[in-house]
Amino acid sequence: MRPIALIATLVFAALLAGLAVLWLTAPRADGPEVLAGLEPDVARGALVFTAAGCAPCHAAPGAEGEARLVLSGGMRFASPFGTFTAPNISPDPEAGIGRWRPIDLWNALHNGTSPDGRHYYPVFPYASFIRMTPQQVVDLAAYLATLPPSPAPSQPHDLPFPFSIRAGLGLWKALYLRPGWVMQGDLPEPVARGRVIVEALAHCGECHTPRTALGGLKGGSAWLTGAPDPSGKGRFPDLTPPALDWSEADLVEYFTTGFTPDYDSAGGHMALVVEDLAALPEADRRAVAAYLKRLPLAD
Ligand code: HEC
Ligand code: HEC
Repeated sequence: MRPIALIATLVFAALLAGLAVLWLTAPRADGPEVLAGLEPDVARGALVFTAAGCAPCHAAPGAEGEARLVLSGGMRFASPFGTFTAPNISPDPEAGIGRWRPIDLWNALHNGTSPDGRHYYPVFPYASFIRMTPQQVVDLAAYLATLPPSPAPSQPHDLPFPFSIRAGLGLWKALYLRPGWVMQGDLPEPVARGRVIVEALAHCGECHTPRTALGGLKGGSAWLTGAPDPSGKGRFPDLTPPALDWSEADLVEYFTTGFTPDYDSAGGHMALVVEDLAALPEADRRAVAAYLKRLPLAD
């Protein structure tokens, strides 16, 4: 083969391989049958919303009290890949998600896919929300629709090339998006309820678990063992005994009041997490504590 023909063949093969990867990792979406027959319950949806910590990311920066229910977006998240800005997810039909059907919310939370078929960035913690049940999403959709609309337009992310290309996220999803539990097996109550809150809703692992070089959460013995803050400042603490040697009562107290056993108070983003945990039924905080006491996991 002449060199030029060889090069042409190689380029063609590389293009074909690239197209195959894009095709194999194209955004996936489920049809409305996934949610068929499920009746929404707004009160249950409010609990999903609180446990899942949607407001700490989607409220306006610095919003307090009732204003945290106006999900106008604007909070910024620095990372090694660039700075992301949370979008408006209020029920405004133009600026927010007022026109979305429940199945659109399911595809965002479960598949990381937008209604117009694009990949979302995993800073939106769908790698945790993938574990939500169809009923939880239907309830959440009904609750979100009751919140005040905001006309504030969503702001663009500030990402350098190649991270600005969403198509590349398909590869990330192929590597890291998994629906199964991290703590596996049939668990007794209240640990099983704790697993729903920690792994599916409150996405504790997204901060407290170390990541691979490509930004995937590590499982097994690395799960919830602490990680550097992606903004470059400080660390998220290790939550596994014996590194965290708090009793279950200490943990419940922290999730209720934000006070540590030595009367420090929760700071940074954890203060917002505590605000939501404190608004859940006491049994849920006990369940989270029971789950943490089962750590660390084996590989
Ligand atoms: C850690 C912060 C964080 C949390 C927690 C979070 N989100 Fe988001 N969310 C984001 C970011 C950032 C994006 C933008 C993703 C992108 O552009 O790819 C986003 C995108 C979305 C979108 C897509 C909006 C659009 O215009 O396409 C929806 C819907 C959404 N989030 C709903 C929720 C709900 C409901 C919850 C709670 C169950 C939640 N989010 C929790 C940060 C978060
Ligand atoms: C958005 C990031 C984030 C999420 C999500 C998050 N945390 Fe934290 N967590 C932190 C930070 C930051 C601290 C350190 C707070 C401080 O320094 O006051 C912390 C501290 C803690 C501590 C105290 C540990 C110590 O040694 O002081 C516990 C316990 C804890 N988190 C449990 C949880 C649980 C359980 C969840 C899920 C329900 C969770 N966190 C979700 C960021 C997060």
